[in-house]
Amino acid sequence: MRDVLEKLETKRAGARLGGGVRRVEAQHSKGKLTARERIEILLDEGSFEERDMFVEHRCADFGMEAQKVPGDGVVTGHGTINGRLVFVFSQDFTVFGGSLSEAHAEKICKVMDQAMKVGAPVIGLNDSGGARIQEGVASLGGYAEVFQRNVLASGVVPQVSLIMGPCAGGAVYSPAMTDFIFMVKDSSYMFVTGPDVVKTVTHEVVTAEQLGGAVTHTTKSGVADLAFENDIEAILQVRRFVDFLPSSNRERPPVRLTADPTDRNEPALDSLVPANPNKPYDMKELILKVVDEGDFFEVQPDYARNMIVGFGRLAGQTVGLVANQPMVLAGCLDIASSTKAARFVRFCDAFEIPIVTFVDVPGFLPGTAQEYGGIIKHGAKLLFAYAEATVPKVTVITRKAYGGAYDVMASKHLRGDVNYAWPTAEIAVMGPKGAVEIIFRQDMGDPAKIEARTEEYRQKFANPFVAAARGYVDDVIMPNDTRRRLCRSLAMLRNKKLENPWKKHDNIPL
Ligand code: HXC
Repeated sequence: MRDVLEKLETKRAGARLGGGVRRVEAQHSKGKLTARERIEILLDEGSFEERDMFVEHRCADFGMEAQKVPGDGVVTGHGTINGRLVFVFSQDFTVFGGSLSEAHAEKICKVMDQAMKVGAPVIGLNDSGGARIQEGVASLGGYAEVFQRNVLASGVVPQVSLIMGPCAGGAVYSPAMTDFIFMVKDSSYMFVTGPDVVKTVTHEVVTAEQLGGAVTHTTKSGVADLAFENDIEAILQVRRFVDFLPSSNRERPPVRLTADPTDRNEPALDSLVPANPNKPYDMKELILKVVDEGDFFEVQPDYARNMIVGFGRLAGQTVGLVANQPMVLAGCLDIASSTKAARFVRFCDAFEIPIVTFVDVPGFLPGTAQEYGGIIKHGAKLLFAYAEATVPKVTVITRKAYGGAYDVMASKHLRGDVNYAWPTAEIAVMGPKGAVEIIFRQDMGDPAKIEARTEEYRQKFANPFVAAARGYVDDVIMPNDTRRRLCRSLAMLRNKKLENPWKKHDNIPL
């Protein structure tokens, strides 16, 4: 009997060793943790329940039958983060470079299937050389099985990807279909074709880091959401991040009790908007002053910085915050900011997270680059996302809400539940100067007349009261009182029920 028990322990020890001491050292020397070390940091101490530790690949080609490592290059199972259930898979680069075999894929699929059944997030720690080359098509089939589950799980359970090593070729499409991607600087990269192929085909010379590193994807492509200095920082931030999210679309986000009073007054907000309408100010200040304890988890902070998106809490309840940032491109909507916010709004709507929108938008960014790039379609994504969203939507216009962008940014007309404006709000088709230049073109030669007309227009439209008179804004509120008004609105909306007409699915302009 003792023999049998010892055999189990020996087998487990073999699996825990992964690809062996030499390869573990190589992993560490690259500044990377092993698959198991990562899970240890990610999950609450002692909560990890591993499964499929003894799974082996079934390949008998190229001498593979003699090279079997229990677990086959991925550690899978479930555990808790701050007491809440999550499923996890962590690819082990020390075993065949973390490459994905048929068996490896089956392990990932198993945790994904279970996560969907019980309603808990899936967190994937990616560190892989891609398809297991020795297995050929079996490995490709394995990828497709994972892809299919990524799609089915989308909107059912949150899916978060950490990229902590290579992720190349078709393998990128699994993380790409998850909700959020976190990357580690200097040790992770994602690309469809690597630097060598790029050089052959386009004659461009780039490093892996330049082509698909964490900075590239969080600043240029927008593929990834956040870049971190090292594995530990990335994992700890995932722990913080998951705390904001519901476990599935069947549950509400967790409520975190807070000592921060819901009626906290913020006098500093009364002077946030400068007297000069062309002067920028930092919209992030408003967010930080309004959310519980100033705790804001910004998503994609370095991409399309004219739009701020992220999670915070109001009265302990998670909210998605979407805000124009007047500090960048004057807060204009452009292709990148529209797609960034549209995706975020859709995530919030899928997971019943109320959306709070702060508006200061002078319009859509003009220019051939935007028009040729399809701003019409991309801008429509944000409009579509807000219009289809049935979660509580509370909007505050702080300053400009001009033109089509006014409509887009969670306006009353898109079923905004509570729409506030600050006294500094200007809700109009366009700014006074532009408006006068068009409707009083005949007076352009007379500066005094133009000045008078501009002032007339400003008096008439550059305020919130025309919109308020029509009920397009529900109230004009004091900036210092914003937190209290938001908390009250969200409390009122807590049991909101709104359904869109039945359809198989909509056809968002992709
Ligand atoms: C099998 C692999 C492997 C793979 C790496 N290894 N990639 N084994 N299949 N895809 C093994 C290596 O043989 C080596 O084994 C160990 O993992 C570590 O690899 P190294 O090359 O020593 O590490 P490093 O120098 O850090 O380079 C990492 C790497 C490189 C850049 C990922 O290994 C590499 O280019 N691998 C091939 C990548 C690739 O072409 N994959 C297929 C892409 S196509 P030993 O025994 O020496 O430790 C694809 C299609 C997916 O993925 C399609 C989905 C639809």
